Amino acid sequence: MAQAADLLVLNSRKMVTLAGPPRARVGEEMSDLGAIDGGAVAIADGVIIEVGTSDQLAHKHAAAERIDAAGRLVMPGFVDCHTHAVFLHVRADEFARRAAGASYLDILAGGGGIHRTVRETQAASVDELEAATAERLATMLAHGTTTVEIKSGYGLETKAERKMLDVARAAGQRLPIDVVTTYLGAHTAPQGAERDAYIGDVLADLPAMREAAEFCDVFCEREAFTLAETRRILETAGRHGYGLKIHAGQFSDLGAAGLAAELGAVSAEHLEHVSDGDLAAMAEAGTIAVLLPGVSLYLLSDVYADARRMISLDVPVALATDVNAGSCPSGSMQMMLSLACLKLRMTPAEAITAATINAAWAIGRGGRVGSIEVGKQADLLVVDADDEADLCCRFGVNNIRTVIKAGRNVTTRPELDV
Ligand code: NIG
Ligand code: FE
Repeated sequence: MAQAADLLVLNSRKMVTLAGPPRARVGEEMSDLGAIDGGAVAIADGVIIEVGTSDQLAHKHAAAERIDAAGRLVMPGFVDCHTHAVFLHVRADEFARRAAGASYLDILAGGGGIHRTVRETQAASVDELEAATAERLATMLAHGTTTVEIKSGYGLETKAERKMLDVARAAGQRLPIDVVTTYLGAHTAPQGAERDAYIGDVLADLPAMREAAEFCDVFCEREAFTLAETRRILETAGRHGYGLKIHAGQFSDLGAAGLAAELGAVSAEHLEHVSDGDLAAMAEAGTIAVLLPGVSLYLLSDVYADARRMISLDVPVALATDVNAGSCPSGSMQMMLSLACLKLRMTPAEAITAATINAAWAIGRGGRVGSIEVGKQADLLVVDADDEADLCCRFGVNNIRTVIKAGRNVTTRPELDV
């Protein structure tokens, strides 16, 4: 006998399932949302047990709870696959300084930027860091993010890096949001530190840090780490069982995207500056390009990642916020959808694919979340929009009506109770 559903989501106008092959989508596949007009979902114990139309499912299951989508769009929860969400305060004064002409790398070289957030994070208590992070994640959840990757990298010493990873996980446990952690000890060398000695510390910390982090990332950039240093750290991380990621080509092309492909990294992230040769290598290796258009916007840059080129070369593209203290304080995946269309020239369908199923594969969760398919965790959104274009065009406001996390309605928007 078929399993009994405990929750039915009915009466969408359109449901985008993102059903498809069990891997990140490329090229034309990114335009296929697997949409069902009038789609509906049956859920039991937090897992999707049937997908169909409302006509098919409404009478078949006597579920205790029913959510009426009332002609709205239904879609998978957003997966924010690149964030630095553990910090106390946004560096708002640097926002003002950049508007007056200072550059991000100049501020960093002068001891501000990441260095300043490092000082604050080292000094912060676990409780205050966890409270700030949980509050940030709660806002992201209300805006539709149901799974989030969080990197360390504002600690830059063993104790503070471990504190960040533990805080990321603890904050996630306080909320109905899945957290995936990444060790980014190699975010930049601490101020005044001897570079080689610090790299030695990162290498020495890799085995123990693996208890608290699934992925290892390196910021390969001027003012951060060279290509050779990045290779050394990631090759060691690979031997300790980490999945690999690289902050590649944010301000300059040091060849890090090619290294990501060569090392079998799951993703190369940022990629505002990258060669066609390295993109071809990424396509060949299946390395996912995680694009962060909020950063170009916030840093007043005219340079955005060339998503059209990447899609034409069959590089799988994902989107994320990069929410952090200095280069993008927004945790809104809806804003990134709009920027992807307005600045990266992605279509709404490609942007939705990049923000859900491809983002899930970018953090090794593609088998569990990112699409509405039987057997997957029931992470769904009911959206105040008719379709994907209607969602992507409404920028700067929260269009999420209902958030369902693992089969539970977790919507927290009191302004909707009218
Ligand atoms: O992804 N690129 C390096 N790291 C972050 C910025 C962190 C910060 O400025 O505080 C980023 O943009
Ligand atoms: Fe980042």
